[in-house]
Amino acid sequence: MSTHDLTADRWRFLATTNRGLEDIAAAELTELGGSDAETLYPGMIEFAAPPAVVSRVHAYCRQIHRLLLELARGRCSSLADITALVDSLDISRILGPEQSFAVRAQRRGDHSFESPDVESAVGQAIVDASRAQRGTRPPVDLDDPDLIVRVFVRERRAIVTVDTTGQYSLHRRRYRVAEHAAPIRPTMAASMYRLADPDPDERVVDPLCGCGTVPIEAAATALDRRIEPVHEPAFRRLRALDADESAISDHRRQRDGAPPDIRGFDIDPEAVADARENARHAGVADTLSFETADARQRPIAADVVVTDLPFGVRTDDDIRPLYADFAERLAESDCRRAVIHTARGDLLGLEPTRRIEMRRGRLETAILVID
Ligand SMILES: C[S@@+](CC[C@H](N)C(=O)[O-])C[C@H]1O[C@@H](n2cnc3c(N)ncnc32)[C@H](O)[C@@H]1O
Repeated sequence: MSTHDLTADRWRFLATTNRGLEDIAAAELTELGGSDAETLYPGMIEFAAPPAVVSRVHAYCRQIHRLLLELARGRCSSLADITALVDSLDISRILGPEQSFAVRAQRRGDHSFESPDVESAVGQAIVDASRAQRGTRPPVDLDDPDLIVRVFVRERRAIVTVDTTGQYSLHRRRYRVAEHAAPIRPTMAASMYRLADPDPDERVVDPLCGCGTVPIEAAATALDRRIEPVHEPAFRRLRALDADESAISDHRRQRDGAPPDIRGFDIDPEAVADARENARHAGVADTLSFETADARQRPIAADVVVTDLPFGVRTDDDIRPLYADFAERLAESDCRRAVIHTARGDLLGLEPTRRIEMRRGRLETAILVID
């Protein structure tokens, strides 16, 4: 069993992201000050970092959904093993006397208990520890808690964390005021842009941009813009972070040279209008251009293409002609790399250098890197 010392100068964190994209997100966490970042489970990275990384990740990390501060981990074969992890915690470093909390548990594996059992046992253990340590009972609020304690039980291992992000995942960006029918997750768009890895002077194009998520995330990454999540992250209420650490550190890199050349196109003029509106809310409208164009016909003038193709699932449209013509436009262009999210990569007839299996709902999709 190990309990993490919250007075130490490095803490242990878990970060959640899109399954399959952990290595790219881990690289971003490392850039932001993390070390030893590794995939712990599908969609979950573990790493170490100084406490100040919490504010930095919430301001700049474009690929992470939640940042969880690890409190304790250990082997578990019973509920008692999990509550023993809570007994070892210094509750006053985590919860203020008036702060409410909720426990959420995720369990995978063969156990004699279910997730709700973990939630009530850990909740009770927190109440008991708080009573023993400071004589007060913290309020439980399952709907709108100040802090969420998340417990992960995977086979024989349990990890107790406090969620520094809170109720709402960071993939929900405030800029997305105009929603397209099938928008890609901004965190996934950010990972795709990083997979494309363009040089600062290279032209980046999304020929089927919908409401503009890929170009917006690309511009925000290139310009090192802050994330604007829909809700204030929970870390500001976390007792273990002092005021200095919770103040958002300015992490901006100095960018020299011309602004990035990033463009989006879509056949649907309404999608183009939505993309412009979202870009305005994201504060990157001056950097981006969005135009109406048919990807089957318009020649691709780009060094790098990053796009999310229609799957043809929700509509009856035959996507074969679109895929065939788009692949032809790509082949005749001088684009050096394309990063494409699709459920029908087979229709492109292009050999990927890397293929990352993904899921959207029940649909199996993939990100293809084509060089
Ligand atoms: C999966 S959506 C892209 C979603 C986008 N990544 C977003 O976050 O909103 C596919 C887009 O392809 C566009 N599209 C379909 N056929 C097209 C064509 N021939 N040329 C350009 N765009 C096309 C659709 O209008 C739709 O916006």
